[in-house]
Amino acid sequence: MYFPFFLALAYALGSVPFGAVLSRWRAGMDITKAGSGNIGATNVLRQAGPALGVATLACDMAKGALPVLGAALVLGTDGFLNQTAVALVALAAFLGHLFPLYSLFKKGGKGVATAAGCVLVLSPVALACALVVFAAVVGIFRRVSLGSLISAASLAPLVYWQTHSLPYTGAALAVTILVWFKHEANIKRLIAGEESAIF
Ligand code: G3P
Repeated sequence: MYFPFFLALAYALGSVPFGAVLSRWRAGMDITKAGSGNIGATNVLRQAGPALGVATLACDMAKGALPVLGAALVLGTDGFLNQTAVALVALAAFLGHLFPLYSLFKKGGKGVATAAGCVLVLSPVALACALVVFAAVVGIFRRVSLGSLISAASLAPLVYWQTHSLPYTGAALAVTILVWFKHEANIKRLIAGEESAIF
């Protein structure tokens, strides 16, 4: 009974385009028409400044973390079935961000912060390790998209290493594939040497 509720809640929350809402509200800007056009924290940071970028990051992480936390507490995380339910709630939040209901499944983001919020609840150590990978890649190459791609690729092994949970690892693998799919334009720009630096 609670599972469909958390699934719908996660998708509805994940669909809220905080980057677009915050940059419209505080900077009078249509973020989908500025910079990379992405609604995520990186583009908001570049186009509207650090305060809105950090606020977008926090909100996008929270919309992943909160429904997963609720589902984990109410449904439990013992055993394959409960873990599958919680993993599906995490995927619902992530898919809401990528394919939002409110814009008829268009103009979604790339899902990195929302996925990070989900992983924060499922396996904080895996998230911390992925963040180290992210920081190292961004520090060396100065491209957030490359950091996102490499840390997303590290996610499934890290989650399996920490949780030994097949449902969580399967969800992490789906996240990796979809993050790479959503970064198609970034990958083309990276290959062409045309990707924007963050600093
Ligand atoms: O998380 C999104 C980031 O990897 C790339 O963002 O705006 O450079 O396309 P952006």
